[in-house]
Amino acid sequence: MAGVRLEKVTKIFDGSNVKAVNEADLEIHDREFTVLVGPSGCGKTTTLRMIAGLEIPTSGDIYIGERLVNEVPPKDRDIAMVFQNYALYPHMTVYENMAFGLKLRKFSKPEIDRRVKEAAEILGIGDLLKRKPRALSGGQRQRVALGRAIVREPQVFLMDEPLSNLDAKLRVMMRAELSHLHKRLQTTIVYVTHDQIEAMTMGDRIVVMKDGLIQQVGAPLEIYEKPQNLFVASFIGSLPINLIPVQVIADGDNFIADAGHFKVALPISRRAECASIVGRKAVLGMRPERVEICRDGGAEHADAFEAVVDFVEMIGAESNLYLKAGAQELALKTSSHDAVKAGQKMKLYFPPEMLHLFDAETEKALF
Ligand SMILES: Nc1ncnc2c1ncn2[C@@H]1O[C@H](COP(=O)(O)OP(=O)(O)OP(=O)(O)O)[C@@H](O)[C@H]1O
Ligand SMILES: [Mg+2]
Repeated sequence: MAGVRLEKVTKIFDGSNVKAVNEADLEIHDREFTVLVGPSGCGKTTTLRMIAGLEIPTSGDIYIGERLVNEVPPKDRDIAMVFQNYALYPHMTVYENMAFGLKLRKFSKPEIDRRVKEAAEILGIGDLLKRKPRALSGGQRQRVALGRAIVREPQVFLMDEPLSNLDAKLRVMMRAELSHLHKRLQTTIVYVTHDQIEAMTMGDRIVVMKDGLIQQVGAPLEIYEKPQNLFVASFIGSLPINLIPVQVIADGDNFIADAGHFKVALPISRRAECASIVGRKAVLGMRPERVEICRDGGAEHADAFEAVVDFVEMIGAESNLYLKAGAQELALKTSSHDAVKAGQKMKLYFPPEMLHLFDAETEKALF
């Protein structure tokens, strides 16, 4: 087993002047399931390929365990990679597909047999070993592709969107299986996806990237609750966070975010941060799942404000409400039991401790 460390790793492709990866500093711990997540083109695959040795960094150092691997060819890095396009050899059986890489590496027959059978058992495909890939379902093929990597018994698994060819339901199943597999194998996994839900559900830690730059590294809950900038706040969360342009104004000892049509009290615990942004543009952040609907018509909270429901998206037990408070669009999550209808007016309340505040210019979080 081994961790992976990136020190100021930059990649500029030949003939390009953009930094596909820009001075990435990253410590991936031994046995950790780390997910690199971010929008298309942010540098996830390039980062993974550099760890694998398939791309050479323009500058910076990569360590696997304590070994500097900059000059080490891919085959000697003791890693195994699983790609989105896992193309199995169609003329070979499942067994042969899994054994192929080991044969090339001149492993003995009994050793190959042991490893293939063990991997097949772990993946629950022991009874498929004699089949050809065309006789397998998508999920089964994906498991064989994983099996090919597992038999290598590598120090680190690198996975690039391995589930994206599967349909939605199977993807959810395989997510859980991969997490389970990680627990069983006790190996370092670096997993790339553009899907923030995949990242949130699978990662011990998440690395959020944008434009070649690492934006934030942290446990899923930490990233969700304490996004360090506007990008991370808006990228993470299945119903995107409400972002509201505001002016922060002093109100005696406390501070208020003025959104024009409504005003919201800012948390007392954050006076210093609030004071620092008075007179400049700020953005208030509020997760849709944290907005409260005032059942009492707003009597309890002085800063509850009115909004009109634009439309309702019923998704089973929960409904997403899209509302307008003046010109400001807002979203919130509520129980479908509430049976809210479009056109309905309601009073909303933002609990102060649930608020986020960002500097509109630097896009950095104040809290
Ligand atoms: N071989 C290459 N030559 C030149 N530019 C490249 C090459 N490979 C990738 N890039 C560029 O580097 C940047 C990062 O690409 P990368 O493939 O790492 O993105 P990604 O995060 O994996 O995106 P996706 O989610 O679409 O797979 C992009 O701007 C891309 O166009
Ligand atoms: Mg990619």
